[in-house]
Amino acid sequence: MKRKIVVGNWKMQGSYATNEVLLHDLLSELQSCDLCCDVAVAPPSVYLDQVGRVLKDSGVLLSAQDVSAYPDGAHTGECSARMLVEMGCSMVIVGHSERRACGESDSLVALKAEAALDAGMTPVICVGETLEDRQQGRARQVVEKQVGSVIKLLSQRVKQCCFAYEPIWAIGSGQVPGVTEVSDMLQCLSGWVGGGRFLYGGSVNLHTAPSLFSIEHVDGVLVGGASLNAKAFAGIIRATNE
Ligand code: PGA
Repeated sequence: MKRKIVVGNWKMQGSYATNEVLLHDLLSELQSCDLCCDVAVAPPSVYLDQVGRVLKDSGVLLSAQDVSAYPDGAHTGECSARMLVEMGCSMVIVGHSERRACGESDSLVALKAEAALDAGMTPVICVGETLEDRQQGRARQVVEKQVGSVIKLLSQRVKQCCFAYEPIWAIGSGQVPGVTEVSDMLQCLSGWVGGGRFLYGGSVNLHTAPSLFSIEHVDGVLVGGASLNAKAFAGIIRATNE
């Protein structure tokens, strides 16, 4: 069985003061449980250094929320994979729907995943359909196209990636797709990719996590809102054992 993984995506939230409290509370929550899964937190890039220092030797991994597709040079506002590794990151989220909504194409997302792998990080590649796509019966087609660009570029290396299936309509909405919808999509993903780990994301919380972990093909979860609450995030981590 694959080792489960829980990734907390803080999005554009936090401050030096609140991060300190959140991480302190999270680490004390986790002290009482054996970490039988991989846990990562993804703060905004300006806090990677702070969060990395607090997490040092805790076993909790540091993830970035995005990475440049380029190694260095004239790319104002971006951080390269090498810089993220220097900060202590071992993972990076790429192609989150909130970034795709800003114009990131499938091919750019694939290049970012490649940059992450080249630097020794694990990319968590987000894919997912809109509500309209789902209602019109093209969810699978949309996700296959998103994944297809990554497979084309990375070939066999695609198996070193994590994929997070995040239906856009489930993100921050409190709505979670049914067991069959999640299981079917992750099965497809696993078939297309042929290896790697497959996460579900979108309104994962203390209440939805246990049933999500019981779904076949779910190797982990990508958690947004609930990762900002130490008790809720720790509860989700504990649910991987149940
Ligand atoms: P959510 O966000 O858990 O708040 O729905 C998930 C995500 O966007 O990664």
